[in-house]
Amino acid sequence: MDGNGRWAEQHGLPRNEGHKAGTQAARKVVTHCRKLGIPHLTFYTFSKENWSRPREEISFLFDLLQAYLKDEMDSLLERDIRLQVLGEWSDLPFSLRQILRHVCSRSSHCRSMVVNLALNYSGREEILRACRKLMDQGLGPEQLTESHFAAQLDTAGQPDPDLIIRTSGEQRLSNFLLYQAAYSELYFTPVFWPDFDESHLQTALDVYAGRSRRFGGLEAPTAETSSSKT
Ligand code: IPE
Ligand code: MG
Repeated sequence: MDGNGRWAEQHGLPRNEGHKAGTQAARKVVTHCRKLGIPHLTFYTFSKENWSRPREEISFLFDLLQAYLKDEMDSLLERDIRLQVLGEWSDLPFSLRQILRHVCSRSSHCRSMVVNLALNYSGREEILRACRKLMDQGLGPEQLTESHFAAQLDTAGQPDPDLIIRTSGEQRLSNFLLYQAAYSELYFTPVFWPDFDESHLQTALDVYAGRSRRFGGLEAPTAETSSSKT
């Protein structure tokens, strides 16, 4: 979710208004993905690097998220949506941790969709934390497999992302799901996050549907090519 600040600037508003407008976009995207039956959705909400912003902006973002979670909790439960957090909880304000813990535990039985919030998240730091856990477990080098490793990540039990969308024209991952993104399709759009709506999401999904995912292999034979061989 990128471009809240530039959206605000474009509208002659303070940056925080961009963040507020961004929550509406998040609502729309959750609703549309739920409708389409997309089972896992992750929002890169606050990176570890975002701590370098002014203190007032950071507290505004945390307060906004807290209010958003309060407003959305019942609706998430009604729609059978589970909330999970990726990243390190410990540095977040106490009141935010409380509401996060509450919504995560209340929704833990929900099965129709998982919404992940990457919060105080850094892909590199997640990888280091996974290594530390494995070292603590005393796992020998020869016992270490990809599935062992993936099970220590914050996304344990969830599939790797098929599609990563970044708004606002920036074309980089910025430390997002570095391990999990190995074969993700990347989609970049110049649209600022607060303007991102169902139609933009649909365009991204259409582009994704047209991509050929070979995972290092060869093109899967189409009906045409396979019938010409027989
Ligand atoms: C993304 O919008 C929101 C968060 C990182 C929380 P930005 O705040 O990065 O917006 P720009 O990049 O300044 O336009
Ligand atoms: Mg930005």
